[in-house]
Amino acid sequence: RIAYVNGRYVAHADAFVHIEDRGYQFADGVYEVCEVARGFIVDMPRHLGRLNRSLTELSIDWPVTRGVLPIILSEVIRRNHVTDGLVYLQVTRGVASRDFVFPAADTKPSLVVTARKADPAAAAKRAESGIKVITVPENRWDRVDIKSVGLLPNVLAKQKAKEAGAQEAWFVDADGTVKEGGSSNAWIVTGDGVLVTRPAEHGILRGITRTTLFEVAAKLGLKIEERGFSVAEAKAAREAFISSATTIAMPIVAIDGAPVANGHPGSITLSLRQAFFDVAE
Ligand code: PDD
Repeated sequence: RIAYVNGRYVAHADAFVHIEDRGYQFADGVYEVCEVARGFIVDMPRHLGRLNRSLTELSIDWPVTRGVLPIILSEVIRRNHVTDGLVYLQVTRGVASRDFVFPAADTKPSLVVTARKADPAAAAKRAESGIKVITVPENRWDRVDIKSVGLLPNVLAKQKAKEAGAQEAWFVDADGTVKEGGSSNAWIVTGDGVLVTRPAEHGILRGITRTTLFEVAAKLGLKIEERGFSVAEAKAAREAFISSATTIAMPIVAIDGAPVANGHPGSITLSLRQAFFDVAE
């Protein structure tokens, strides 16, 4: 395997950043995960747009120009022979002697890119059986709209899910409404076949997959309501699912151990999943 680290393509086993990289010391950095399907990066312009937003919010400079980054991503994908899988990129504020305030203006941001293969058949199989989620109280900061590498609450929540035999954890607000998963957005389908997902203006990450699913839903003639929903409403819903670059639309069959509907993946979720690749670019 080959990785990209600050201007060089190096063997994955020898891919290092300095111990005083601010990503390592302060989680002072941002990232993107893009799905690779049939050799193409899915929704690349949207991922670059969100990366730009994350960098701007944190006053981190682009490590390379916006035009060059896609070339690096494609090169890492090519060198790893990935036709289906994902590409990961991370930008941090760079290497500097440990100090909380921003380092000198000439500190160069760090850029790291990795890619890895995934088996589309395995993902399809997972979608046929569906996944289980647990719920956990929201304990993250209120700027989760920034795709920061500070993911400790997400790590702990997803570990808790794993220990409970589930694959995702939903963060739930003090008022009982579902925010999003540890690494995905949260959706339900009402009895009338309307898709419901929380508005992305505040308190969740605006998922790229979420945005593209709005277009997929429009093509399928499905209505979307952007509003909060409670755990109780999700448990009683006709369908529930998560979305992310790594899962696309993945049916949920149980929430906190209680089955969703008949405990089988929902047909609307599966049709969204099917149609996704026709719409995504
Ligand atoms: N996670 N919400 C959170 C907290 C996420 O971490 C992610 C993605 C999403 C979905 O966003 P998108 O559709 O753009 O992937 C929502 C990635 C996959 C990860 O951290 O691995």
